[in-house]
Amino acid sequence: MCGIVGIVGSRPVAPLIVDALKRLEYRGYDSAGVATLEGEILDRRRAEGKLINLETRLNASPLSGNIGIGHTRWATHGAPVEVNAHPHFSSNVAVVHNGIIENFRELRQALEGDGFTFTSQTDTEVIAHLVAKGLRDGLEPIEAAHSAITQLHGAFALAIMFGTEADLIVAGRNGPPLAIGHGEGEMYLGSDAVALAPFTDRITYLEDGDWVVIRRNAMTIYNLKGVEVNRDEQKSIGSALMVDKGNHRHFMLKEIYEQPEVIGHTLANYIDFNGDKIALRDMGDNQNPLDFANLDRLNITACGTAYLAGYTSKYWFERHARLPVDIDVASEFRYREVPMSEKGMSLFISQSGETADTLAGLKYCEQAGQHLAAIVNVRESTIARSSHNVFPTLAGPEIGVASTKAFTCQLSVLASLAVGAGVQRGHISREQEIKLVRELSEAPRYANDVLKLEDSIKALAHTLANKEHVLYLGRDTNYPLAMEGALKLKELSYIHAEAYAAGELKHGPIALIDEEMPVVVIAPYDRIFEKTVSNMQEVAARGGQIILITDPRGAQEAGMDGIKTIIMPEMPEIITPIIYSLPIQMLAYHTAVHVGTDVDQPRNLAKSVTVE
Ligand code: F6R
Repeated sequence: MCGIVGIVGSRPVAPLIVDALKRLEYRGYDSAGVATLEGEILDRRRAEGKLINLETRLNASPLSGNIGIGHTRWATHGAPVEVNAHPHFSSNVAVVHNGIIENFRELRQALEGDGFTFTSQTDTEVIAHLVAKGLRDGLEPIEAAHSAITQLHGAFALAIMFGTEADLIVAGRNGPPLAIGHGEGEMYLGSDAVALAPFTDRITYLEDGDWVVIRRNAMTIYNLKGVEVNRDEQKSIGSALMVDKGNHRHFMLKEIYEQPEVIGHTLANYIDFNGDKIALRDMGDNQNPLDFANLDRLNITACGTAYLAGYTSKYWFERHARLPVDIDVASEFRYREVPMSEKGMSLFISQSGETADTLAGLKYCEQAGQHLAAIVNVRESTIARSSHNVFPTLAGPEIGVASTKAFTCQLSVLASLAVGAGVQRGHISREQEIKLVRELSEAPRYANDVLKLEDSIKALAHTLANKEHVLYLGRDTNYPLAMEGALKLKELSYIHAEAYAAGELKHGPIALIDEEMPVVVIAPYDRIFEKTVSNMQEVAARGGQIILITDPRGAQEAGMDGIKTIIMPEMPEIITPIIYSLPIQMLAYHTAVHVGTDVDQPRNLAKSVTVE
């Protein structure tokens, strides 16, 4: 998603802005731009594609000026070409914007009627013209900015600069987050604190509906009604976090390798290892403590990979806690007109905590009076702040667009919650709790062992790289994992992949099987292994090329010569979805590297999807 940066500084800001934009690259973008104020002239450089193109432009034709705004754009309205890149100008006004202005057509029509000429296809340009119109109508810059913001419908975060003001940026948010950074004689703003980490760790987050007047030595925040409000300054951990690749070729690989550690951190937050028991800590509103015993239904809502973590947990909650679970992709959920149970709880899973569809689902459940719980990786996020109970994943910042460590940390929280729910609901005895907790605590060790399989997985990945289609099969918790495998392969390597519940194959998709079709089968040796092997044999009989991910017992019992295997260690059933995620991720990663795609920022994708 688009990224915003602004600096009211005391030195030339263009290089600083580009530096901050680089830290927002992980969000996904397809063009970028910077504007600064030089004397009384607003000037800008914009470029299609990666920031390196913008840097080349800036090197050839530098921008001076101690105040500026910058942007990485993920195209929504209008193609990712230079004329649509931000900042957008209207006479003496420059604007950068993240989100969607829903009423831009009406506004554009009216502004064109008022004599304003549009040079882009974006919704953003209306903001620049609205502010310019305010100025033309005699408003002061701050009034003009505020007046424009109040006319916008939709979800947006934006920053506005003026040709006449060397010490002023006005910014606002309604939906996507905005962080204000406090420096010494400099102030900053950014889409997140990570962007501002090189400059400051003193951060103030705007709340929904807030807008802010930023000057070199001060800032004043107002709410939607124009009343001055106080928002706390926080010490951000963004600056303490390493946002580089270390020795790894890609952020994604680094994040895959971080999993043993972050799974361990995350589990330690929900498990009392000394007492061998689940200790459900949350950082939400303790007025509404979570009690699974009184629930009669859990509905889980999320998008993409987070949805697949939720899907996996449906098996856990129903099996271990006898708690019925509905699981929906967020974009469908809110329009499904779901009848809500008075004793139900709604759980939202989101790495970023800002995904617009998931947030809309949360608002729907809030209106229905549901108890709201969230699993998020970004604790300051809107979804976290809107929920009664918050269960953070401790994955650290995830920069690769494809979610890896956040997924396994979500699974770690969900497994802990499901066991905790089983205990609270009286379906898990003390003895079973001890066993399950000890099994969960083994997850980091197994994850570490599995990373050692990378070389053999890499070799297998090369056999996928020239394929056009790949199928993934699994049963039980390995079915959502098969979906996650297919999603990872698609988004990273652009190879078409589909997942099926293994038993479903014969009801249609088996027609796809021929000698050209690779089929990844996820089947640890468990109570339904035999059933999955039968489905695998149906594939083999039709010439399909099987890659079996199993354990030594499974490899032996499968009894099929000539199939490719990834042999995992034998492990307790409850942790298999967490640990089997790793070969799935590595297979997709190495296939993509071999194909030569942009692994950390696959085409068309955004890290934090703040539009519906
Ligand atoms: C895929 C991926 C996406 C996200 C989805 C939800 O690898 O990362 O499918 O899982 O966009 O994002 P969050 O978790 O931020 O709500």
